[in-house]
Amino acid sequence: MNIERFENEDALAAALATRLIEAISRNPRIVLGLPTGRTPVALYREIRSRSQRGHVDWSQVRTFNLDEFVGLGAGDSGSYRSYMQAELFNHVRMTPEHIGLLDGRAPNLAAECARYECAIEQAGGIDLQILGIGANGHIGFNEPGESLQAETHVAELRAETRRSNAGLFGGDSNRVPSHALSMGMATILHAREIVLMATGEEKQAAVAGMVDGPITTRLPASFLQLYPRVTAMLDRGAAQRLADRAFGVSADAGQAPG
Ligand code: GLP
Repeated sequence: MNIERFENEDALAAALATRLIEAISRNPRIVLGLPTGRTPVALYREIRSRSQRGHVDWSQVRTFNLDEFVGLGAGDSGSYRSYMQAELFNHVRMTPEHIGLLDGRAPNLAAECARYECAIEQAGGIDLQILGIGANGHIGFNEPGESLQAETHVAELRAETRRSNAGLFGGDSNRVPSHALSMGMATILHAREIVLMATGEEKQAAVAGMVDGPITTRLPASFLQLYPRVTAMLDRGAAQRLADRAFGVSADAGQAPG
């Protein structure tokens, strides 16, 4: 796993924004997989600001978001759809039909999951998947458990995951839906390239397990060890337990040793 360490979340966001925008200019028809949560807020802020300065052509870019709460959709402030509109889609000139989102209010959730898998396939698959990581090691809403699901599915959320999403629901974890739709592990691992971002000390154990721990359904991100083209972009807090590792890029780069 290629690991890059940054001084703070702003430096990480700036580097990833550059990487993403370069990928779009190399391939204007790129298919992106996108995350939500607190971690990518700085990334989307950076992308918005660079796009508003007119340097990025979004017209042919396609996106697929990782997940959505069951029962929520447009107009629900806690939905990931609303988050994405506020953080990115309302600010860049994408073609509306190119925005792939799961519909948490679909009457038939199994059919919605199947539709999403088909849409990703018809788009030619995901070129670059950006991921966050839960403090319990989940990616998307692929939660730790006895087994993992390969394809897009309905996931039951664990108590700690509902707590960590409470910010979207006025701080009340009881208002966080109990279920979500999520890309599956194979949906994610079929991407041509993956970049996982993690910031803050509360992610250090999950990050250490992801990088150095056993590959286990108890820490879904550990499956990224099997994947050949993954970069983990970390700030100092999230990288804290990886002190002895060599970093592909490091916040220390250029500083005198010691
Ligand atoms: C959420 C999302 C994930 C996200 C993760 C981390 O529950 N389903 O896609 O990466 O948990 O969230 P945060 O960035 O807020 O810590």
